[in-house]
Amino acid sequence: MGCLFACALQRAGLGVTLLSREHGAQVSVLLDANGCRQQLTFPSSRPEDAAPISHMLVTTKAYDVHAAVASVAHRLDACSQVVLLANGLGYADSLYRSFPHVDFYLGATTEGAFRVRPFHVRHAGRGFTRIGRPGQAEPPQWFRSWSQAVHPGGWDSEIQRTLWLKLALNCAINPLTALHRCRNGELARPPLAGQVLQLCGEIAPVCTAEGFPIGAEALHQQVREVVEATAANQSSMLQDVLAGRQTEADYITGYLLAAARRHGLHAPLNEALLANLREHGRTVPDH
Ligand code: PAF
Repeated sequence: MGCLFACALQRAGLGVTLLSREHGAQVSVLLDANGCRQQLTFPSSRPEDAAPISHMLVTTKAYDVHAAVASVAHRLDACSQVVLLANGLGYADSLYRSFPHVDFYLGATTEGAFRVRPFHVRHAGRGFTRIGRPGQAEPPQWFRSWSQAVHPGGWDSEIQRTLWLKLALNCAINPLTALHRCRNGELARPPLAGQVLQLCGEIAPVCTAEGFPIGAEALHQQVREVVEATAANQSSMLQDVLAGRQTEADYITGYLLAAARRHGLHAPLNEALLANLREHGRTVPDH
C-alpha cells in the first residue's frame, strides 16, 4: 500500500523519499495498474539517517506502527506531520503518549493493492481514501497537495466514526474468514451467515456505547453488502494467516473487546473468535 501511495504522490509532482532499511540511495518500484506497467524511482533513506522528516505516511501492519515511528523519532519535530494508514484501531494511542509534539493524522482506504514481490505492486481495485484527525474539522495546508495526488478521497472531519465503522465491518468479517480459511463470500451462506448475524448483535452496541450509534440490523446490512461486493476476496486477516504472518486481531477484535469491557458489555462470540485466532491462527481449526 505504501508503494501505491508513493507512486501517486510522485506522479503528482511531490518529492517522495522511501524509508527503507535495506536499500541504497535509490529504490525502483514497479507498479501494475489498469493493464499498464510503470517503473518509478525514488530516493531512499534509512531510518537512522539524520535528515528531518516534514511529512510521513506510515502504511505498516497495525502492530508495527509504533516501532516504525519510533525508528525515525530523532527526525521528527514539532512541524512533522505523520499520517497513519493501518487496519484496526489503537495503534495511535501509544504514539500520542510517546511523541506528544508530533501531529498525527489517521486514515482509512479501500484501495486494493497487493505486493507481487518486494517493490512490485499491483493496483487491484480503485478505492476511496479518507484522512482526518480526531477533533479537527478543517484539513491542514498539506492536505491540498495530498488530495491532488490521492483521489478519489477527502478530508474526513469524523475520522473516528469512519474508523469505528470499518473496525465493526472487520470484526464481523475478518476473524471468521481467517479461522475458516474461506473467501468473504462464504459468510453469506450457512453456517457462517448465522455467526455474522450474532457478531453484528454484539458489535453494534459497543459502537453505540463508544458514541457512534448504529443498530445491529443496519450493521448487518452493511456487512452483507461488503461481503457481496468482496465475495471473491480473501480478507486481509486470512491473507496474514495463510502467509504465516501475525494477524492484526488484537487491533481489530481485541480493540472492540477492550471497549466492550469498559462499557460492561458482553461479546462472547467475539471473545471466542479472538481466543481461537490466538490459539489456532496458524493452523486449521477443527470446527
Ligand atoms: O480487511 C479486509 O480484508 C477488508 O477490509 C474487508 C473488506 C473487511 C474484508 O475483505
